[in-house]
Amino acid sequence: MTTNIDNTNTSRRNFLRILGWGSFFTTLGVSSVGFIRFLYPNVLFEKPSTFTVGSLDEFKLDKTANYQVYENWKAEHSVWIVREKNRIYAVQAKCTHLGCTPNYFAEEGIFKCPCHGSRFRFNGENLAGPAPRPLDRLAIYIGNDGQIIVDKSRGYTFKEFNKKGAYAEV
Ligand code: FES
Repeated sequence: MTTNIDNTNTSRRNFLRILGWGSFFTTLGVSSVGFIRFLYPNVLFEKPSTFTVGSLDEFKLDKTANYQVYENWKAEHSVWIVREKNRIYAVQAKCTHLGCTPNYFAEEGIFKCPCHGSRFRFNGENLAGPAPRPLDRLAIYIGNDGQIIVDKSRGYTFKEFNKKGAYAEV
């Protein structure tokens, strides 16, 4: 009889011991996860706002042409690079009506918006349709190494097109 009571007490003691250690390690685990999260804060990593489009040699102008539109960065960065005789600038590929992406028609030198029919000259000036103003431009500059850099974090509306940064002299 005494042996049965001893066995019951021992089992209960073991159970409580296991329960105690289990609780301890669970608490320790949860605290560790919290501590590790504290060491690695929630940071949103975004793409850099600047990108390089190349050197001036890559934006040649035919002797007979007054301008050339380069479409290489439209898909990835929504921007056209336009080279004129004395300047280069970045036209944002976003219609100023409701934000659709226009298409460039090289033979006409015109951007056409597929949504509501706005049209823009090669330099972004609005010609027809509901777009209320020319296409915006993005900051552009030539780095010390001669590479042309576009900064998508700074935009220019047509009133600022003559500001330094809205174009780069070449
Ligand atoms: S969004 Fe381009 S014309 Fe409406």
